[in-house]
Amino acid sequence: MMDQPAGETRILDGKKLSNLLLDEIRDAVQKRAHKGLKTPHLAAILVGENGASLSYVQSKIRMCEKTGIRSTLMHLDENTSETELLQHIQTMNSDADIDGFIVQLPLPAHLDPDKMIPAIDPDKDVDGFHPINLGRMQLGLPTFLSATPAGVMLLLERYAIETAGKHCVILGRSNIVGTPLAILLSRNTEPGNCTVTLCHSKTKNIKEICRTADILIAALGRPHFVTADMVKAGAVIIDVGITRVPANNAKGYVVQGDVDFEQAAPIASAITPVPGGVGPMTVVSLLLNTLQATEKKDNQ
Ligand code: GUN
Repeated sequence: MMDQPAGETRILDGKKLSNLLLDEIRDAVQKRAHKGLKTPHLAAILVGENGASLSYVQSKIRMCEKTGIRSTLMHLDENTSETELLQHIQTMNSDADIDGFIVQLPLPAHLDPDKMIPAIDPDKDVDGFHPINLGRMQLGLPTFLSATPAGVMLLLERYAIETAGKHCVILGRSNIVGTPLAILLSRNTEPGNCTVTLCHSKTKNIKEICRTADILIAALGRPHFVTADMVKAGAVIIDVGITRVPANNAKGYVVQGDVDFEQAAPIASAITPVPGGVGPMTVVSLLLNTLQATEKKDNQ
């Protein structure tokens, strides 16, 4: 469990927690090496030049380096055809040294993720996006949990946030964040046992619903959507948003969350910052999945 300063809003520091977890992963990788077991190997396929995707993939590779996990980046041309990408996926499926790999999303418009993701060997699908793995998650069977929902669950667990019986309001019903989190948090687990309300673009009275949330999870990709009038006193706020907003600085943008932190933090009992909250936890979750994929092969 992480430190808990009394009487003030707790900052759920994903950066600090992720560094702790990266140390744990590095220890596990080293222990494997001492036992003569295989070094985990994660590969990523990136198609095109989407700036945000490139920076996410680079951060995944950097984290691999910190833990001793091997990494390979296959950076393909923007014009890669569907057949070519499927061939690359098959190559990774049959490469015995690669324990897990991801196809970074979004793909260029001419490539349909719904055709590409099912081509990944479910045992190597460390993103947990394959229909088989999503089905296993839905049923509560052992699987690779997708990085963002897994990162949020890990954050709640390690900060010992009480979830049982709480009303959790989730903003955003995406396949990779909102929907899986609604399933995971309503399950009879710890963390879990929440009463979940999943809000989306057609939800009526969204502000009123948010005000009833003990735990508010914002994952809709709209910068500063959550304002002071949407937060119940003492709520726990998890901000999954990471939108690049144009700015007059060296990078040309700032990263903004879905929550107006300045407004919401004083009302909340605990809150994740952006950056440095959920983001780093997602990368750790991907590495944990990679370690798990390697361990699964130990006795085969
Ligand atoms: N794009 C945004 N998040 C993710 C993720 O978790 N995995 C992949 N492959 N692409 C993403």
